[in-house]
Formats: sequence, C-alpha cells, structure tokens
Amino acid sequence: MECLRHHGDVDAAPGLLDFAVNVARIAPPEWLQRRLAGRLATLGRYPSAAEDLAVRERVGARHGRSADEVLLLAGGAEGFALLPRLEPALAALIQPSFTEPEVALREAGVPIEQVLLPPPYALDPNLVPDAADLVIVGNPTNPTSVLHHADSILAMRRPGRIVVVDEAFADACPGETESVAGRSLPDVLVLRSLTKTWSLAGLRCGYVLGPQDLLRRLQVGRAHWPIGSLQLEAIAACCTPEAAALAADRAQQLASDRAAMIDLLRDAGFDVALPAAAPFLLLRVDNGEIVRKELREKGIAVRRCDTFRGLGPDHLRVAVRGTVEATQLVAAMIEVAGT
Ligand SMILES: Cc1ncc(COP(=O)(O)O)c(C=O)c1O
Repeated sequence: MECLRHHGDVDAAPGLLDFAVNVARIAPPEWLQRRLAGRLATLGRYPSAAEDLAVRERVGARHGRSADEVLLLAGGAEGFALLPRLEPALAALIQPSFTEPEVALREAGVPIEQVLLPPPYALDPNLVPDAADLVIVGNPTNPTSVLHHADSILAMRRPGRIVVVDEAFADACPGETESVAGRSLPDVLVLRSLTKTWSLAGLRCGYVLGPQDLLRRLQVGRAHWPIGSLQLEAIAACCTPEAAALAADRAQQLASDRAAMIDLLRDAGFDVALPAAAPFLLLRVDNGEIVRKELREKGIAVRRCDTFRGLGPDHLRVAVRGTVEATQLVAAMIEVAGT
C-alpha cells in the first residue's frame, strides 16, 4: 500500500529540473491568483448552498450537463475516496493506472480484480470480469499516456455495473475527443480535476459528473461544507468559456511539444510508449532505476514507475515540456544511459 501512495511530487524536489510532476506550472496563472486573492476578504462567511449551486451550474454548462449531475470535489482524489460508498462487490481496475483508486477501495475492504493491459496498453473491454460491478479506467491514462476510444470505454457498461472514468487529464487532449463527460448515462461517473492545467494541486479542486442518484449515494456521510470558498471560486473561474478556450490552447501547445519531445527521444534511441496523448510520456529504459538516480544527480527529476501495477524499474515517466527543457533531458539521458 505504501508504494501505491508514491506520487511524482516525491520524485521532484526544489532546484531539480522537474519532469516528475505533471502539473503545468509551479503557480496558477496570474488572473486566477488575482481572483483567489479577491476572495480572501470573504472567508469569514460559510460557503453557501446558493454558491455551490451556481458553481455546479457553471460546471454543468462547461460539459452540457445540468447542475444536478455535478458534485464538487476537493480534487479528483476525493472522488476515489467516495467510491466505496457505492458498496461495490467487485471493483475491476484497468491497469497500469493511477494508484489512488486502489488505495481507497482497499482501505474500505472492497474486493479488487486487476485488469492488466499489455503494451501498447489498449483497452480491451472483454478483459473485464463479468462479476465486476464497478470498473475504473483513466482516460487518458496515467502513466501510459494512452487515450482510449470513448466507444471502448462505454463498451464496458453492463446492467448492474458502474463505470468510472478518471478524466483528470482530459482537458489536455485537443478537442477532448474521447471524453464522455458530456454523456448523461445512468451508470457512468466521470471524474475531472483542475489540478493539472490550472496548477492548483495545493487547493484541491475537481468534480464528478454523473446521474443524480449515484451522486447522492457518493455524498452520504460526507462532511457539511466539504468545499471551501476559495475552491468554489477556483472551480467557477476554471469552468468559464474563456478558461475552456485557454485550456484548449494549452492542449494544442502540449500536442506540439509532445510530438517534438517524442522525436528527440526516439532519435536518441529511447523507447517511448506510443501512441501518446497525455502531458507525459512513458519510457522503457534499461537499468531504469540507475538512470533515474543518475539523472537526479545531474539535477533532473523523472518519475519512477515501479509503483504502478504492471510496470517495473525500467519504466520511467516524464512530463511533456518545451523543447529547451526536453533537449536538456535527452542530452542527460544519453550521457547516463549511453544510447
Ligand atoms: C490520473 C490522475 N487522476 C486523478 C488525480 C488526482 O488529481 P487531484 O486530486 O489533484 O484532482 C491525479 C493526480 O496525480 C492523476 O494523475
């Protein structure tokens, strides 16, 4: 369990060139900081139900859903922690993937079946055991960077089963083509995070989209006022049409940075898991553990991947960065890995 709780922030450290964490920048954009600062003077008031509704309406409008189909969360991670309230008999986890869903379900005593996808990690809905009444899949998937087709995600639906799609990185994919966030389905929950694009890891902002009855079940026993005023302000600010347009621009930039970084890595002989669609790349490097440590000595942090189901010490994850930083990474990798 300990190693499932390992995240990229542990691999990174101040002063290192950071390829370990997938958050866009160290600080949220200035306009967002100003909005949050403007809210500080109101912190003497409890967050109100009226504001919660207004923010849910805003989020709903962003995805073509009604406010009733939105539950605001303290980050996508809170959504995983709420899943045991659905009382699943068997949860199937599509692996390799983000590890927090497994931690939350294990801690609650939910039986788990691992559905391990072999490289190139394409989703095969038939691998999910019939008995699974909860299935969790990331799209795009951390750490493989694979973007599954919406059709194959929805092909996992069965009577009596709930499909949870972790779309924490979906806004980094141009056009969000495979997102199912806009689909009102009775058995599909979509988790979204504002952490990555808006550099809000420290504030904890996200939401889940789904049918009202499932959202009601997720909330049973939840604390009153679970989302603070600053979180409400941030969620509203990041779900305006203007913010969605900024996220779309960033997704385009990421796509071209990713293509350039893949070329740099492959030209140098490194093995990159393809096709890749997320703001990070999965690499397979001989002696990965040693390479990671030597990169660190050279001032570069990359994410170890032996903490993910189905991956080992020779897998490393690197965030997509601009060409200057990517060139630095590849040069250092050539020195330590000697390709
Ligand atoms: C795939 C994935 N889903 C969800 C999360 C949780 O994001 P947050 O709780 O910060 O919204 C993360 C964070 O690293 C992630 O990588």
